[in-house]
Amino acid sequence: MFGNEYVTLRESTSLVSKGTTGLRTWPAALYFAEFLLTEEMRNVVNDKQILELGSGIGFLGIFLQKINSKINFTFTDCNEEVLDNIKENFKLNFSETPCRANKLDWEALDKCDNLTTDIVLATDVVYDLRIIKPLINILNILLKFNENCQIFIASTIRNEDTSELFKKTLDESELLFQLLSPANCDEIFLYDRTAKFEILKIYKK
Ligand SMILES: C[S@@+](CC[C@H](N)C(=O)[O-])C[C@H]1O[C@@H](n2cnc3c(N)ncnc32)[C@H](O)[C@@H]1O
Repeated sequence: MFGNEYVTLRESTSLVSKGTTGLRTWPAALYFAEFLLTEEMRNVVNDKQILELGSGIGFLGIFLQKINSKINFTFTDCNEEVLDNIKENFKLNFSETPCRANKLDWEALDKCDNLTTDIVLATDVVYDLRIIKPLINILNILLKFNENCQIFIASTIRNEDTSELFKKTLDESELLFQLLSPANCDEIFLYDRTAKFEILKIYKK
Protein backbone atom coordinates (compact mmCIF):
# COMPACT_ATOMS: atom_id res chain seq x y z
CA MET A 1 0.00 0.00 0.00
CA PHE A 2 1.27 3.53 -0.82
CA GLY A 3 -0.94 6.50 -0.02
CA ASN A 4 -4.44 5.14 -0.63
CA GLU A 5 -3.31 2.84 -3.43
CA TYR A 6 -2.84 -0.93 -3.53
CA VAL A 7 -1.29 -3.30 -6.03
CA THR A 8 -3.06 -6.67 -6.13
CA LEU A 9 -1.00 -9.56 -7.51
CA ARG A 10 -1.38 -13.25 -8.10
CA GLU A 11 2.10 -14.68 -7.66
CA SER A 12 4.00 -17.81 -6.79
CA THR A 13 5.68 -18.21 -3.42
CA SER A 14 8.54 -20.24 -4.96
CA LEU A 15 11.73 -18.70 -6.34
CA VAL A 16 11.43 -20.86 -9.44
CA SER A 17 8.12 -22.28 -10.57
CA LYS A 18 7.17 -23.91 -13.88
CA GLY A 19 10.80 -23.49 -14.97
CA THR A 20 10.88 -19.70 -14.64
CA THR A 21 11.94 -17.12 -12.05
CA GLY A 22 9.27 -14.76 -13.42
CA LEU A 23 6.19 -15.87 -11.49
CA ARG A 24 6.93 -13.87 -8.34
CA THR A 25 8.07 -10.36 -7.43
CA TRP A 26 11.80 -10.08 -6.67
CA PRO A 27 13.21 -7.74 -3.99
CA ALA A 28 15.00 -5.32 -6.33
CA ALA A 29 11.60 -4.46 -7.86
CA LEU A 30 10.32 -3.40 -4.42
CA TYR A 31 13.55 -1.52 -3.63
CA PHE A 32 13.43 0.27 -6.98
CA ALA A 33 9.70 1.08 -6.61
CA GLU A 34 10.46 2.94 -3.36
CA PHE A 35 13.15 4.91 -5.24
CA LEU A 36 10.62 5.72 -7.98
CA LEU A 37 8.44 7.44 -5.41
CA THR A 38 11.12 10.04 -4.62
CA GLU A 39 10.54 13.45 -6.18
CA GLU A 40 13.73 13.14 -8.23
CA MET A 41 12.57 9.92 -9.89
CA ARG A 42 8.91 10.93 -10.21
CA ASN A 43 10.14 13.79 -12.37
CA VAL A 44 12.16 11.37 -14.50
CA VAL A 45 9.29 8.95 -15.20
CA ASN A 46 6.30 11.31 -15.23
CA ASP A 47 4.23 11.04 -18.42
CA LYS A 48 7.00 9.10 -20.20
CA GLN A 49 7.04 6.10 -22.48
CA ILE A 50 8.59 3.27 -20.47
CA LEU A 51 9.65 -0.20 -21.53
CA GLU A 52 10.48 -2.86 -18.95
CA LEU A 53 12.75 -5.84 -19.67
CA GLY A 54 12.12 -9.16 -17.92
CA SER A 55 8.96 -7.86 -16.24
CA GLY A 56 8.07 -11.03 -14.31
CA ILE A 57 4.53 -10.84 -12.95
CA GLY A 58 4.27 -7.11 -13.61
CA PHE A 59 4.52 -5.47 -10.20
CA LEU A 60 6.68 -2.51 -11.30
CA GLY A 61 4.54 -1.47 -14.28
CA ILE A 62 1.28 -1.83 -12.37
CA PHE A 63 2.75 0.19 -9.50
CA LEU A 64 3.97 2.94 -11.85
CA GLN A 65 0.63 3.19 -13.62
CA LYS A 66 -1.07 3.48 -10.22
CA ILE A 67 1.10 6.47 -9.29
CA ASN A 68 0.79 8.12 -12.72
CA SER A 69 -1.99 7.16 -15.06
CA LYS A 70 -0.35 9.07 -17.93
CA ILE A 71 2.67 6.77 -18.08
CA ASN A 72 2.76 4.76 -21.27
CA PHE A 73 4.16 1.44 -20.02
CA THR A 74 5.11 -1.69 -21.96
CA PHE A 75 5.92 -4.92 -20.13
CA THR A 76 8.16 -7.45 -21.87
CA ASP A 77 9.37 -10.93 -21.02
CA CYS A 78 10.58 -14.03 -22.84
CA ASN A 79 8.18 -16.43 -21.14
CA GLU A 80 4.59 -16.89 -22.39
CA GLU A 81 3.26 -18.02 -19.01
CA VAL A 82 4.83 -14.96 -17.38
CA LEU A 83 3.21 -12.70 -20.01
CA ASP A 84 -0.21 -14.30 -19.36
CA ASN A 85 0.31 -13.72 -15.65
CA ILE A 86 1.11 -10.03 -16.26
CA LYS A 87 -2.14 -9.65 -18.20
CA GLU A 88 -4.15 -11.32 -15.41
CA ASN A 89 -2.49 -9.19 -12.75
CA PHE A 90 -3.07 -6.07 -14.79
CA LYS A 91 -6.80 -6.87 -14.99
CA LEU A 92 -6.91 -7.28 -11.20
CA ASN A 93 -5.76 -3.66 -10.88
CA PHE A 94 -7.22 -1.85 -13.90
CA SER A 95 -10.54 -2.75 -15.48
CA GLU A 96 -10.48 -0.36 -18.44
CA THR A 97 -6.84 0.42 -19.27
CA PRO A 98 -5.34 -1.76 -22.00
CA CYS A 99 -2.30 -3.80 -20.97
CA ARG A 100 0.73 -3.78 -23.26
CA ALA A 101 2.68 -6.98 -22.54
CA ASN A 102 4.87 -8.18 -25.39
CA LYS A 103 7.20 -11.09 -25.91
CA LEU A 104 10.82 -9.94 -26.05
CA ASP A 105 13.55 -12.53 -25.66
CA TRP A 106 17.03 -10.97 -25.57
CA GLU A 107 18.48 -14.30 -26.69
CA ALA A 108 16.31 -14.55 -29.82
CA LEU A 109 16.51 -11.19 -31.50
CA ASP A 110 16.47 -12.10 -35.16
CA LYS A 111 14.10 -9.26 -35.96
CA CYS A 112 13.08 -6.39 -33.70
CA ASP A 113 9.88 -4.39 -33.91
CA ASN A 114 10.13 -0.67 -33.23
CA LEU A 115 11.52 -0.40 -29.70
CA THR A 116 11.68 3.37 -29.40
CA THR A 117 11.16 4.39 -25.78
CA ASP A 118 12.11 7.21 -23.38
CA ILE A 119 12.99 4.99 -20.43
CA VAL A 120 14.09 1.39 -19.97
CA LEU A 121 13.69 -0.33 -16.60
CA ALA A 122 14.71 -3.78 -15.43
CA THR A 123 14.88 -5.30 -11.95
CA ASP A 124 16.62 -8.45 -10.80
CA VAL A 125 17.60 -9.51 -14.29
CA VAL A 126 21.37 -9.73 -13.60
CA TYR A 127 21.53 -13.17 -11.97
CA ASP A 128 22.60 -15.56 -14.67
CA LEU A 129 26.02 -15.24 -16.35
CA ARG A 130 24.56 -16.64 -19.59
CA ILE A 131 22.12 -13.76 -20.09
CA ILE A 132 24.51 -10.87 -19.37
CA LYS A 133 25.67 -10.49 -22.99
CA PRO A 134 22.17 -10.80 -24.52
CA LEU A 135 20.88 -8.29 -21.96
CA ILE A 136 23.60 -5.78 -22.87
CA ASN A 137 22.95 -6.44 -26.54
CA ILE A 138 19.27 -5.45 -26.14
CA LEU A 139 20.33 -2.30 -24.26
CA ASN A 140 22.50 -1.35 -27.24
CA ILE A 141 19.60 -2.00 -29.60
CA LEU A 142 17.28 0.18 -27.49
CA LEU A 143 19.90 2.94 -27.55
CA LYS A 144 20.01 2.69 -31.35
CA PHE A 145 16.24 3.35 -31.46
CA ASN A 146 16.68 6.33 -29.11
CA GLU A 147 20.21 7.26 -28.11
CA ASN A 148 18.85 9.54 -25.37
CA CYS A 149 16.74 6.92 -23.66
CA GLN A 150 17.45 6.57 -19.96
CA ILE A 151 18.18 3.05 -18.71
CA PHE A 152 17.89 1.96 -15.08
CA ILE A 153 18.81 -1.55 -13.93
CA ALA A 154 18.21 -2.46 -10.28
CA SER A 155 19.78 -5.62 -8.88
CA THR A 156 19.99 -7.53 -5.65
CA ILE A 157 23.69 -8.32 -5.26
CA ARG A 158 23.81 -12.01 -4.36
CA ASN A 159 27.09 -12.73 -6.07
CA GLU A 160 29.72 -9.99 -6.51
CA ASP A 161 31.29 -11.86 -9.46
CA THR A 162 28.03 -11.69 -11.45
CA SER A 163 27.67 -8.01 -10.73
CA GLU A 164 31.31 -7.32 -11.65
CA LEU A 165 30.98 -9.28 -14.89
CA PHE A 166 27.90 -7.23 -15.79
CA LYS A 167 29.82 -3.98 -15.24
CA LYS A 168 32.89 -5.25 -17.13
CA THR A 169 30.72 -6.33 -20.07
CA LEU A 170 28.99 -2.93 -20.09
CA ASP A 171 32.40 -1.32 -20.28
CA GLU A 172 33.53 -3.62 -23.12
CA SER A 173 30.38 -2.77 -25.07
CA GLU A 174 31.15 0.93 -24.75
CA LEU A 175 28.36 1.68 -22.33
CA LEU A 176 28.90 3.92 -19.32
CA PHE A 177 27.16 3.48 -16.01
CA GLN A 178 26.57 5.51 -12.90
CA LEU A 179 25.82 3.88 -9.57
CA LEU A 180 22.83 5.67 -8.06
CA SER A 181 22.48 6.04 -4.30
CA PRO A 182 18.83 6.29 -3.34
CA ALA A 183 18.40 8.42 -0.24
CA ASN A 184 15.40 9.33 1.91
CA CYS A 185 13.15 6.70 0.36
CA ASP A 186 10.04 5.87 2.36
CA GLU A 187 9.94 2.26 3.54
CA ILE A 188 6.71 1.04 1.98
CA PHE A 189 7.13 -2.58 0.94
CA LEU A 190 8.11 -5.68 2.87
CA TYR A 191 11.42 -7.19 1.77
CA ASP A 192 14.77 -8.09 3.28
CA ARG A 193 16.38 -4.68 3.80
CA THR A 194 19.67 -6.25 4.88
CA ALA A 195 20.23 -7.43 1.29
CA LYS A 196 22.62 -5.43 -0.90
CA PHE A 197 21.01 -3.59 -3.82
CA GLU A 198 22.47 -1.60 -6.69
CA ILE A 199 20.81 0.68 -9.22
CA LEU A 200 22.80 1.46 -12.35
CA LYS A 201 21.93 4.25 -14.74
CA ILE A 202 23.37 3.27 -18.11
CA TYR A 203 24.44 5.57 -20.94
CA LYS A 204 26.00 5.45 -24.36
CA LYS A 205 29.68 6.53 -24.37
C1 LIG B 1 14.37 -12.93 -11.40
S1 LIG B 1 13.04 -12.62 -12.49
C2 LIG B 1 12.71 -10.89 -12.15
C3 LIG B 1 11.31 -10.52 -12.49
C4 LIG B 1 10.92 -9.06 -12.19
N1 LIG B 1 11.70 -8.14 -12.98
C5 LIG B 1 11.06 -8.73 -10.72
O1 LIG B 1 12.02 -8.04 -10.35
O2 LIG B 1 10.21 -9.17 -9.95
C6 LIG B 1 13.87 -12.50 -14.08
C7 LIG B 1 12.93 -12.25 -15.26
O3 LIG B 1 13.73 -12.11 -16.45
C8 LIG B 1 13.10 -12.84 -17.49
N2 LIG B 1 14.13 -13.26 -18.45
C9 LIG B 1 15.14 -14.15 -18.27
N3 LIG B 1 15.82 -14.33 -19.40
C10 LIG B 1 15.26 -13.53 -20.33
C11 LIG B 1 15.50 -13.30 -21.71
N4 LIG B 1 16.48 -13.95 -22.36
N5 LIG B 1 14.72 -12.43 -22.38
C12 LIG B 1 13.72 -11.78 -21.72
N6 LIG B 1 13.41 -11.97 -20.42
C13 LIG B 1 14.18 -12.83 -19.73
C14 LIG B 1 12.46 -14.03 -16.79
O4 LIG B 1 11.42 -14.62 -17.56
C15 LIG B 1 11.95 -13.39 -15.51
O5 LIG B 1 10.65 -12.88 -15.66
